[in-house]
Amino acid sequence: MAPVKTLLIINGPNLAMLGKREPEIYGRETYDDLQTFCRSEAQKRGYLTEIFQSNSEGEIVTRLNRAMDGKYCGIIINPAAYTHYSYAIYDALLMLSVPKIEVHLSNIYKRESFRSNSVTAQACDRQVYGRGLEGYADAMDLIIHILEQRAREEAHR
Ligand code: DQA
Repeated sequence: MAPVKTLLIINGPNLAMLGKREPEIYGRETYDDLQTFCRSEAQKRGYLTEIFQSNSEGEIVTRLNRAMDGKYCGIIINPAAYTHYSYAIYDALLMLSVPKIEVHLSNIYKRESFRSNSVTAQACDRQVYGRGLEGYADAMDLIIHILEQRAREEAHR
């Protein structure tokens, strides 16, 4: 069977407002720009993407639960404000064994103090922040790196 080569990209609340939303923090690129960027960066690396945005915690949890069917080789998630308090998203991430990378467009460590705490990152392999849209490409490289590392470990067993 051919290996799964699809990445699931999840974006949380208010991220559909990119471009209009505090551009001095999040940049002038729109959510459409973000999706185009992700598709093209994934394609360069030989991956397909499914991109999902929701303002609702429950919808994000349901989307992650559906990812249990093994359709994806990795997950990139920007849980937005849910990052800082959603144990439901944390739990949903925890049960997935594919590489999971948390992304933030802004540098959450140089803003209000509540943003420095990420509940959801504790269920992810790595976190990327403060790189704008490029952070999503960085997350793809990290997923590829983790997958290669796991394949090497598997080969040595
Ligand atoms: C964000 C950072 C969060 O603190 C914030 O609530 C967001 C966006 C980011 O991408 O920088 O909505 O996740």
